[in-house]
Amino acid sequence: LELQMNLEEIEKGGYDHFMLKEIYEQPRAIKDTYRGRLLADQGLVKMSGIEQNMEKFINANRIIIVACGTSWHAGLVAEYIFEDLARIPVEVEYASEFRYRNPVITDKDVLIAISQSGETADTLAAIKLAKEKGAFVFGVCNVVGSSIARETDAGAYTHAGPEIGVASTKAFTTQITVLTLMALRLAKAKGEFSETKYREYLTELETIPSKVEKSLESNALIEIIADVYKDSTNCLYLGRGYNFPVALEGALKLKEISYIHAEGYPAAEMKHGPIALIDEHMPVFVIATKKGHYEKVVSNIQEIKSRKGKIIAIVTEGDEQVRDLADHVIEVPETLESLTPLLTTIPLQLLSYHIAVMRGCNVDQPRNLAKSVTVE
Ligand code: G6P
Repeated sequence: LELQMNLEEIEKGGYDHFMLKEIYEQPRAIKDTYRGRLLADQGLVKMSGIEQNMEKFINANRIIIVACGTSWHAGLVAEYIFEDLARIPVEVEYASEFRYRNPVITDKDVLIAISQSGETADTLAAIKLAKEKGAFVFGVCNVVGSSIARETDAGAYTHAGPEIGVASTKAFTTQITVLTLMALRLAKAKGEFSETKYREYLTELETIPSKVEKSLESNALIEIIADVYKDSTNCLYLGRGYNFPVALEGALKLKEISYIHAEGYPAAEMKHGPIALIDEHMPVFVIATKKGHYEKVVSNIQEIKSRKGKIIAIVTEGDEQVRDLADHVIEVPETLESLTPLLTTIPLQLLSYHIAVMRGCNVDQPRNLAKSVTVE
């Protein structure tokens, strides 16, 4: 037993928990994900799974993304990316719903299954169904040789390395990285971009690991903020556009490891319900980056403030407008709107982590949850 303990300590590489280690691994993990695929200086994205099946993607009626949990959130981000950059219609579905609702699938559809473990039973069943109906099935998995990786017609690994913490962190950001590369490659093939704009994307994507690194520097500040809100019983997470799925993911992380009830919402939907919950006891985490409906989010923040909600905002470096309104701000570096989720996710992961630690929760193995759900 002692030997096992020591081994685990070594595996944690000096971090208190696997989750924290994995959060800090993200700059390297994202680099590993795009290594050999992103050739910014040549203005190229190379992905064999896409090259070999280019016709299928280009001629697809639509892309259907299926996944569960955090991977489903990566799918939602991908919906924005694929539609925005590659101009291909996308639907994102919970695998468990998709498989049982007699979906309309044809051989002109492309199904992308996203799964860290590659073993999620519902996602695997959704793949089998789509294959039966003749769709082309592409997998985005982390675990090499996993069931989903084997069942799919083609795929792209995330190369995040082993993720031990039950709450997914680096798997999420690397999934988004792979899906971004895919969307960029397809956008190029479809001629959606000028060469200059394309190169701008590639160059910017290459800077993301160092910007994630920069985002991690807020850790000490986040710990202070965590201490203020650790005893909350409810939290709200708001974001718009690309950062709406990040709000969902932020809320999920908090629920999973700290057992605080949290909900993610598109910021504009607040007025259709959640606003009724806001009072001086409600912390509201708002993603308010400069790129991405900034002014609209600022007015949502004003609405929260006038109802005395506590505002913790994720903002772009140098932001002043939100700083004046919010109780706390956490800065992330500026980037292209479509890449903001890779940065805004980071403080929300750290926040959940610290709150869970302060509440004495088992961060790496939260109650009732499993890393890989192989039963339906
Ligand atoms: C479980 C895990 C989550 C994960 C989800 C989907 O619920 O606890 O962290 O996001 O399964 O898993 P997958 O391996 O398919 O990405």
